[in-house]
Amino acid sequence: MKKILITGGAGFIGSHLVRLLVNKYPQYQIINLDKLTYAGNLTNLSDIEDRPNYTFVKADIADLGAIRTIFREQAVSDVIHLAAESHVDRSIEDPTAFVVTNVLGTVNLLISARDQWEGSGGHRFYHVSTDEVYGSLGEQGYFTETTAYDPRSPYSASKASSDHMARAFHHTYGLDILISNCSNNYGPNQFPEKLIPLIINNIIHERPLPVYGQGLNVRDWLWVGDHAAAIDLIFHRGKSGETYNIGGNAERKNIELVGLICDQMDRKLNRPQGTNRGLITYVTDRLGHDMRYAIDFSKLNKQLGWSPSLTLEEGMETTIDWYLANRDWLNKLTSGEYLQYYQKHYSNR
Ligand code: NAD
Ligand code: DAU
Repeated sequence: MKKILITGGAGFIGSHLVRLLVNKYPQYQIINLDKLTYAGNLTNLSDIEDRPNYTFVKADIADLGAIRTIFREQAVSDVIHLAAESHVDRSIEDPTAFVVTNVLGTVNLLISARDQWEGSGGHRFYHVSTDEVYGSLGEQGYFTETTAYDPRSPYSASKASSDHMARAFHHTYGLDILISNCSNNYGPNQFPEKLIPLIINNIIHERPLPVYGQGLNVRDWLWVGDHAAAIDLIFHRGKSGETYNIGGNAERKNIELVGLICDQMDRKLNRPQGTNRGLITYVTDRLGHDMRYAIDFSKLNKQLGWSPSLTLEEGMETTIDWYLANRDWLNKLTSGEYLQYYQKHYSNR
């Protein structure tokens, strides 16, 4: 029986993946390993926490001893690794935390897998990564799987480093490694420090909507459920040692994206058209802010038949509806520790 260790399963993407796999594969045991940092929240999984094929283990991937013990005690057969410090702004303020979790933590998992699985076959280690490892694009072009790495923030440098480590364990020790590099995700349960839930929350409370610089940076947006579906597909059918790009085919300038949210929320909150756009406030830019990300996902499309299922406009309607219906979730996360971060981060901009 497969016993799949999913790291970071209490976070945004991880919780969608855990739910998908627990529901779709009752024959698998899904073990969710998470440190429960500010970004990890078990209420994200309250609907499946009692399922017989689901287990939660609280642990820090930076602790090699603890990780080795979990591999042994749980007889882990496969890994899908998502646990990470994931917010670019926080990496600019505290790079060390990103090296500890994203680099050291990934190496600890790779070492534990290598040693646990030595001499037996059929085990996969899937490392979930980001398109930010490829750097920043000008107005033209797309990241492909052969684009040279050029990480430019402490976050993307730490993720690039972990990608290299995963590949090194494939080439050196023959570990069955898979890597995917995905564009910006959005959807329910995303921590409200990230652009989309932050804007939705600020609109609810009629607070200023902070847009960095002139709002001209471009991101490619993907519905989180489509990312989880792609991971499921690659985990089961991807070729060992290969990398797959995942993207949403939905490039938008930040100011266009914020405008879309404003307009959809004017309608949903019965505010006169244009009201929310009046809250837009241009603030000091992010240091080293990458200008444009755009993903060529034709390899995944041609080889495994994956493509996004929702347009950005459709996904955004569903996303906004979820946050409006889950204001308690938002209020809980945006009070306390996060409130201090928010005030410090935006007060000088
Ligand atoms: P998130 O911040 O919402 O969740 C991260 C999870 O990891 C949290 O539950 C947290 O508690 C856990 N965690 C952090 N440090 C840990 C540690 N030391 N030990 C154990 N658990 C720890 O992140 P997310 O947005 O869901 O991203 C998940 C993964 O996907 C990350 O690896 C990220 O780099 C990658 N990714 C994210 C996006 C995106 O748009 N959010 C896009 C591409 C790739
Ligand atoms: O591309 C994939 C990456 O997408 C993931 O690897 C990261 O984990 C994820 O956080 C995300 O990184 P970004 O930096 O692109 O996401 P963020 O939501 O922080 O910002 C999106 C864009 O919006 C970016 O250009 C910065 C801008 N922004 C962000 C915030 C928080 C603003 O203009 N104002 C804000 O207040």
